Amino acid sequence: MNKVVIDQYAVIGNPIKHSKSPIIHAMFAQQTNDLMCYDAIFSSLDGFVDRVKEFQQQGGKGLNITVPFKEQAWELADELSDYAQSSGAVNTFMFNQDGSIYGANTDGIGLVRDLKERYQIDLTHKRVLLLGAGGAAKGVMQPLLEAGIKALVIANRTEQRAETLATNFVNCAKELGCEIRGGSYNDLRGQKPFDLIINATAASLQGIMPPMPASCLYDKSACYDLMYGGQPTAFESWCKNNGAALVMNGLGMLVEQAAESYSIWRGRLPETKPVLENLLVSW
Ligand code: ATR
Repeated sequence: MNKVVIDQYAVIGNPIKHSKSPIIHAMFAQQTNDLMCYDAIFSSLDGFVDRVKEFQQQGGKGLNITVPFKEQAWELADELSDYAQSSGAVNTFMFNQDGSIYGANTDGIGLVRDLKERYQIDLTHKRVLLLGAGGAAKGVMQPLLEAGIKALVIANRTEQRAETLATNFVNCAKELGCEIRGGSYNDLRGQKPFDLIINATAASLQGIMPPMPASCLYDKSACYDLMYGGQPTAFESWCKNNGAALVMNGLGMLVEQAAESYSIWRGRLPETKPVLENLLVSW
């Protein structure tokens, strides 16, 4: 009798208990009739590399990596996708047969797909404001620039980080015809309003709105918080109260980045719409 092999995947992070990834991937597997299982692995802060190696040695095929290990994952990968290379962070591992590790970053693809496909936002020639200059911001830079935006302003509490991030992407932006600048929240005063504002700061975790002036918004601005939760984030509420045309959060991006990881592992892109609808109902 042939032995049935169930391919093993997981998400690794700290904390990990509230991760939606196992539910999302179970829905993808059901949809595509794939024999696979997907667990959640907790790792101590100094135990990431050992937990990854253990999972790999037990025959694991791939991992998603979440906070706070994406930079460590970047260090550990033997080969990197373009987006992983440019962002300095990895959220997907695929374990090759020879034991080497391929690292990808699907976060930015997830964001751009959610904006373009679910919300039907045409990003070409748009003026975009990115709040934050940490790991989450870096992860979305290249796919955003490749989407054809006209201008990208990065604002951050620590001004220097925003300037460095802008400088790191200046060549890429130039090639793609986009003007890029980094600075402080104060620098936003007196600037023309933005078509799209993305909150990539950790402020929503603290229930705080970043100090963005209301003059950044106009009646056609679309606002996207990379965070999500059962309740609107402080950023979502503030943007709604200050006249944004559309307010979105990162739940759609979560499903889209998961689908992209799934396609790296399994060679086909699952449908995301029914999965997102299911998540919204069961939240
Ligand atoms: P992540 O990987 O989630 O991006 P990070 O690399 O620590 O985490 O970056 C957090 C980002 O949120 C940074 O841009 C941070 O600003 P600083 O670089 O000045 O630290 C930003 N951030 C965190 N709390 C914030 C707050 N209350 N208001 C505005 N920005 C905040």
